Formats: sequence, C-alpha cells, structure tokens
Amino acid sequence: MQLNLAVLPGDGIGKEVTTEALKVLGVIAGQNGHTLNYEEALVGGAALEAEGASISQATLDLCKNSDSILFGAVGLPKYDQAPADRRPEQALFALRKTFDLFSNLRPVKNLPVLQNASTLKPEVLNGVDLVVVRELTGGIYFGKPSQRFTDEGGRKAVDTLPYSEQEIERIVRVAFELAKTRNGKKKVTSVDKANVLNTSRLWREVANEVGKDYPDIELEHMLVDSAAMNLIRKPAAFDVIVTENMFGDILTDEASMLAGSMGLLASASLGSIKNPQGGQFGMYEPIHGTAPDITGQGIANPLAAIGCAAMLLRLTYGLETEANAIETAIENVLHKGYRTPDLYESGMTRLGTSQMGDAVIAELQK
Ligand SMILES: NC(=O)c1ccc[n+]([C@@H]2O[C@H](COP(=O)([O-])OP(=O)(O)OC[C@H]3O[C@@H](n4cnc5c(N)ncnc54)[C@H](O)[C@@H]3O)[C@@H](O)[C@H]2O)c1
Repeated sequence: MQLNLAVLPGDGIGKEVTTEALKVLGVIAGQNGHTLNYEEALVGGAALEAEGASISQATLDLCKNSDSILFGAVGLPKYDQAPADRRPEQALFALRKTFDLFSNLRPVKNLPVLQNASTLKPEVLNGVDLVVVRELTGGIYFGKPSQRFTDEGGRKAVDTLPYSEQEIERIVRVAFELAKTRNGKKKVTSVDKANVLNTSRLWREVANEVGKDYPDIELEHMLVDSAAMNLIRKPAAFDVIVTENMFGDILTDEASMLAGSMGLLASASLGSIKNPQGGQFGMYEPIHGTAPDITGQGIANPLAAIGCAAMLLRLTYGLETEANAIETAIENVLHKGYRTPDLYESGMTRLGTSQMGDAVIAELQK
C-alpha cells in the first residue's frame, strides 16, 4: 500500500516528536510491504516567519492531495500577544475548517506500569480505557454573535452556542460506530447540560434518535458537571464519551491526566472527506503543545506522536495489525523501564527523544 502523507511538524517540540513518528512509520511500512511517501511543510509560527501566514494555500493544497496529515504542534511564546490573524493556532482552525474535521478522537488508557505517574490512586485507574469524541467545528467557539461592547450598564460581552441536528447527529454517530468496533464496554456516554441549555436538550433528543440505530450499544446521558466528577471518581466505567466542543475541550484535558503524562496521548481529527485513495482523511496530532520550556533539549516524550502514527494506520488505512504492533511496542518499552524525563522515576532508564524512538523501533524489529 502507498502511504501518502502531508507532514506538518510545526513549532517547538512538534518537530522533534514528529521526526520519531516518521522513523517508526518508515520501519513499520518497510516491514509490511508498504511505501511511505511524505512531504513536509511549514505550519504555525514557523510558517508565519517564513511565509507570512500560519498556513499557506500551497500547504493546504499539499494536504488536499495527501491521504492524511501527520501534525506536530503549533505556538510560540513570542506570538502570545499577537492579534488573532497573526497567531500560529490559526493554522489549526484553517485545517479543521478546510477539511471539515468535525470529530476529535482522544483515546485514554491507563497502563498499570505507569500508575505512579498519575496523581490518582491505582485502584481508581485500574481498567481505564476510554475514548472522548469531541465535536470540533461547532458550538460556542464558532457561534455568532461573539463580541464585546459597552452600553449604559457598563462593559458587556456575548458568545453564542448554536448546534444543528445535523451537527449533533454526525458526531453522535461517530461515537456509536466507535463503540461498536472497539473491544470495550459497548457503551456511549453522551455528555450535555440538558437541565439548563436548549442546545443540550436538542443534543439529548438527537442522541436518543441515533441510539435507536445501535440496539447493541448502551446509551447513557450524563450532565457535564457529573461527568467531570465521574472522570476522576470511577473513570474505568466509561467506554466512549461524546460531547460538544467546549465541554469536550475541558473534559479531554481532565481525562488526559488519567494516563500520567501529556506526552503519551495521541488524537485524531476526522471528517466526512475521503482521501485520494478513498480512505478516511484525518489529521493526527499529539494532544500536547510545543513545550517551549524543553524545546531543543532532545528530551520531549515522542510516544504521543508515535501513537498518532498508530491511529493513522488504523483509521486512515485500516491497517489494524500494524497499528497494534506500534501500540504494543510502546507498551513494551515502558514495561522495560525506559522513560523520557516527564515520566522518569528512580530505578528506570532515562532516554532522550531520539533514543525513545529507537527503543520503539527495536521492539518492532524483534
Ligand atoms: N495542538 C497544538 O498545537 C497545541 C496544543 C496545546 C498548546 N499549544 C501551544 O503550545 C505552547 C505551549 O503551551 P503549554 O505550555 O500550555 O502546553 P504544552 O503541552 O506545550 O506544555 C505543558 C507542559 O507539558 C510538558 N510537555 C508537553 N508535551 C510534552 C512531551 N511530549 N514530553 C515531555 N513533556 C511535555 C511541557 O514541557 C510543559 O511543561 C502554546 O503556544 C500553546 O498555544 C499548541
């Protein structure tokens, strides 16, 4: 199989971890008779500096002609005060919009070998294996009006939270499809605030309608405040969580702590678009940012980026065996006690970014 990728490493450690993911992809492709073709392009701060925009039309065209995007991270401290149109993160919005990447999948698994890395007790973490499906292109981050103004009452601001039944239906369906294929509890937890918000009441109504098409999957509804509590009270009870954009933004960061480090978690953003080979177009990115505090030191954890390579193989190409091989290799290096500094405990073997990539490759080559 030809694997044709657009690679957008971005800023900071984005470049460092993407290099390792590509190394691993190259090896797994070679082992299984696939050909890895990829073209790199600038995005984020790197693109702003060299090309005057956080993502150029040429880069969007490159993505359009590729099967999927392997993404690093964007953002640099020097742009923190920049106006919206001069910020590296604009590239993310442009990509999500251009490719209609409406669903963001974030798997979170707690590996027993990493239980000390989490702030939660081991007995709470046992068996945690969930995916959050976050709606990514609608809701309060995009609703209009969104503005500040001043009237006789003083300074005021407004944001708007709109959702249509089509937007809800398509994201809830992604969650049910995932619950069907995952080796999990066959359960979808739809998170809303239906006791207060009209959009949430519509969300719940549509979720119930979609649920009728999946009689083998249990559908439960949970208010977002209760979901926030249950994620740290009994996280192992979840299988697939589906929710709107802002609730998902908050809950996914909370859920990431169940795994132990940001440096471990991969994500996929998917839409309705097919790639040139007829497969699922997607953008695969670690959930972490550019980590300016450790950039250039060669110590970033590349396992999230390598996990993205596994998700890409599974979701864009249907290469389940190859994806499982990468995920098993990641677990094996951790079992052997290899750790980048973010996860280091005494008695373990400390590795840098590139050494960790090599360790995963060594496992794959066994
Ligand atoms: N999707 C993205 O591109 C994305 C996501 C989040 C933040 N950002 C951007 O990244 C910049 C820094 O943001 P931040 O500091 O809030 O979040 P961050 O994720 O970059 O870093 C938070 C902390 O986690 C550590 N960390 C993150 N990834 C790590 C890894 N792979 N290995 C080891 N340690 C890791 C960092 O060293 C830091 O201490 C900002 O400009 C922000 O806008 C981008």
